[in-house]
Amino acid sequence: MNVQSCKWEQAAVLGSERLAPDIVRLTVAGGPAGALPGQFYMLRAWQGGEGPFLSRPISLHDADAGTRRFLFQIKGAGTQRLAALEAGWPLTLTGPLGNGFALPDVLQTAGDRPVAVVGGGIGTAPLLYLCRRLHAAGKAPDFFAGFRDEPYGLDAFAPFAGRTALATDSGAAGHRGLVTDLLEPAAYGIVLACGPEPMLRAVAAKCKAAGTPCLVSLEKRMACGLGACLGCTIRTANGPRAVCKDGPVFFAGEVF
Ligand code: FES
Repeated sequence: MNVQSCKWEQAAVLGSERLAPDIVRLTVAGGPAGALPGQFYMLRAWQGGEGPFLSRPISLHDADAGTRRFLFQIKGAGTQRLAALEAGWPLTLTGPLGNGFALPDVLQTAGDRPVAVVGGGIGTAPLLYLCRRLHAAGKAPDFFAGFRDEPYGLDAFAPFAGRTALATDSGAAGHRGLVTDLLEPAAYGIVLACGPEPMLRAVAAKCKAAGTPCLVSLEKRMACGLGACLGCTIRTANGPRAVCKDGPVFFAGEVF
């Protein structure tokens, strides 16, 4: 998806919920439609008579007709202000941006074999819409989720996942240890992952050893979100790439 093809539209906050002390699920009405799983929007809001604050890139968590959900972690002043928005506040959504999970390619690569979706922490956010779309395509994936401590947001995955395997570092729920302990890539036609870099590297290494194709969605701090500021550039096997424009979804072999 390039700069020319993205749109911006006014939207309005429908509601906001705390799933954990620093995790917020924001539901909005409106915004440009047609996002692929893994794509993101720039969210810009006005608050309390102040001017608009800097846009924040937030991946699409879920969508249905006219409604979009965003699940994000409060990390700084911008996300703190997004978290404070109440029902009725206007919001501008620019997007959908970036390259997401191309479902026809994913389904073709998987063939008649199952699909695994792997998420770590807030990296589970874009995976709900991915699971929803895979389920709608007749390919409900197995969902592997890892958290440091108490998990959040898993109930929403239940209707769309074949099975869910859970791991926590603390042992608060599920397997005590890493989510990658639970993943056997040889059982799958393709593995799709989003989460912290150490987890993605471990997923990519296991997939490489098993000969299983793997796509990873990178989490990288972004400013413009449009490929203009070069602030999110990474080195890849194919040269420098902007995570916001060329990703955030890449073939694992291109980036690890
Ligand atoms: S955030 Fe500006 S180029 Fe990616």
